Amino acid sequence: MEIDWQSLGFSYMPVKSNIRYKFSGGKWDDGILCSSDKIELSIASNCLHYGQAAFEGLKAFCCKDGKVRVFRPGENALRLNRTSAHIMGPEIPLEIFNEAVQRVVQDNIEYVPPYGTGGSLYIRPLLIGVTPQIGISASDDYIFLVLVSPVGPYYKGGIKPVDACVSEFDRAAPRGTGHIKIAGNYAASLYPTRKAKDMGCQVALFLDAAKREYIEEFGTSNFIGISHDGAYVTPDSSSILDSITNKSLRLIARDLGIEVERRPIKIEELSSFREVGACGTAVIITPVRNICHGEKIYRFRDEIGPVLKQLYDRMTGIQYGEVEDVHGWMQEIKLS
Ligand code: PLP
Ligand code: COI
Repeated sequence: MEIDWQSLGFSYMPVKSNIRYKFSGGKWDDGILCSSDKIELSIASNCLHYGQAAFEGLKAFCCKDGKVRVFRPGENALRLNRTSAHIMGPEIPLEIFNEAVQRVVQDNIEYVPPYGTGGSLYIRPLLIGVTPQIGISASDDYIFLVLVSPVGPYYKGGIKPVDACVSEFDRAAPRGTGHIKIAGNYAASLYPTRKAKDMGCQVALFLDAAKREYIEEFGTSNFIGISHDGAYVTPDSSSILDSITNKSLRLIARDLGIEVERRPIKIEELSSFREVGACGTAVIITPVRNICHGEKIYRFRDEIGPVLKQLYDRMTGIQYGEVEDVHGWMQEIKLS
């Protein structure tokens, strides 16, 4: 296996194995590592027609001391269960989630990008309802699988800024499904993202669907603004994803003495921000250079600003084991 670690982007690479657990008759099985990345399903599977599909995203890092650690897997397990509950799926016990992550990363350890390359092993847990059915009701049977793939930066060019465009479409309804991680939310964002790309922007920024006055989030990440007086400002909304990266950055910001404000943010407030970024597992912190809103363009910086850089360095420092993990976020992958 010859991988050019430096040239990794965010694309799928077949690896040695994935792990699959089946839920049937109200019980989970013991899980099995599979070398094939194909899956056999009934053509009437619920997930294919009615979208009973929940997923997560987390990363394993090869740290400075040579050990491999995963960032906050317990948080992803909790969120996957919140998503599953909303789509009438089964609970995935924490022990099964943790065991799945441990086993699949152990088995694919040679695919974890080495320390110093800036890459990581992306871990994608997926829960799908697989009962063949035509009527709309929750599946009786499920597959919980975890696949992994080595990744580099989500957007080409590392932490180079991206341009965003305020979408004319809505991502999530109030009291809808924006706060959970179901596959359908991402299908719904494909066309708006294509429209943003047609405008020359890599990402779409969504507003609140009720009034279209407040900033919600980007298609694959939360919004962060750094105010004129240096505060970390991020939207408070029940229709955005409760990002684990954002939650962690808010704590890091407080550790660094940066004030944190989590509140509704009016779109016009963009003109008062010194720095803007997108945050999430895949994008880490990606600075935003311009945000287009109709005829108006809000301009920020051509490179990552000092506050976002400080947060980025602390976060990636913890993930790669260069900075003390004071909050106990990193979970080691045990190797025999
Ligand atoms: N918002 C959306 C819509 C996302 O898809 C993601 C990625 O998972 C995030 C925010 C960031 O969440 P996290 O930091 O937990 O990866
Ligand atoms: C992540 O950041 O892990 C995501 O799931 C976002 C995207 C790749 C869908």
